Amino acid sequence: MRTNGDAFVEIEVEALSKSFDGRPVLRGVDLEIRRGSFIALVGPSGCGKTVLLNLILGLLVPDAGRILVAAGDTPGARLVDLAGLDGQQRSRIYGRWAVVFQKNALFSGSVRDNIGLWLREVRDLGDDAITPIARAALTAVGLPCTDSFLEISVYSLSGGMAKRLAIARALAMDPDCLFYDEPTSGLDPLTASQIQDLLLATHSGPTVGQGRRTTVMVTHDKDLLSRLRPRTVMLHEGRVFFDGPFEAFAASTSPVIRPYFELMPILHQRGADPVMTPA
Ligand SMILES: Nc1ncnc2c1ncn2[C@@H]1O[C@H](COP(=O)(O)OP(=O)(O)OP(=O)(O)O)[C@@H](O)[C@H]1O
Ligand SMILES: [Mg+2]
Repeated sequence: MRTNGDAFVEIEVEALSKSFDGRPVLRGVDLEIRRGSFIALVGPSGCGKTVLLNLILGLLVPDAGRILVAAGDTPGARLVDLAGLDGQQRSRIYGRWAVVFQKNALFSGSVRDNIGLWLREVRDLGDDAITPIARAALTAVGLPCTDSFLEISVYSLSGGMAKRLAIARALAMDPDCLFYDEPTSGLDPLTASQIQDLLLATHSGPTVGQGRRTTVMVTHDKDLLSRLRPRTVMLHEGRVFFDGPFEAFAASTSPVIRPYFELMPILHQRGADPVMTPA
């Protein structure tokens, strides 16, 4: 029986492989995600970052390998294979996670409809319970929480507002684990900077449950990496090519890492901003 020992392992990815139409994308990915950690998943376009996220989230089925998750909230809890869980057990795990998708995944409808989606479907809450949670989450991401804003169509939101709404929808679940897929791409520098601040605050902010949020973020945003200096995991040719501190990644002379790092976009320059360290 596997347990997570003293270091609280939230998710353990073991030898995960996935091909599409006979073309391998992931060829045996191993990754340990500890509770409270902030992990940046990087790598060139098409290397399989979103596929890995979708496998962890159960939106794709692996060809081989396992995803183990902590079965309880105490150190030493058993690690169980997600694939072996029944629907109810799996819903309990996924109910503690939330995701901000690469393209936000907002659907046509109002702000209230979108922010209430998972609260209704996963938490089984009704309108009366959803409204105060929605207002609090909108406030947390810097959006208006008025009745009129709750009723407007998501199609009238700017790109930055839509991204904030997608983050608010995730935060409304008060997740222990937050997954972001390129949260700052496609935004103007000022909005990207505000979203960066929000990601950092959200990671370190209070949770109702365990109080230590785990964040896994796919990003090409070098500025965000430089500010946060997270554990950096790079995928290359279907495997984890690098897994270590951002400083080591940035200083690497590897012929695989160096050209990628040099060409990573810097969304904006912050001058002498202090480095922020996640809790
Ligand atoms: N459902 C699918 N069917 C077929 N091929 C797929 C599917 N999903 C992903 N792929 C392929 O898998 C590869 C990896 O895709 P993925 O979206 O994970 O890349 P990525 O690393 O997230 O890239 P980006 O940085 O551009 O978002 C791509 O070649 C993509 O075309
Ligand atoms: Mg992607």
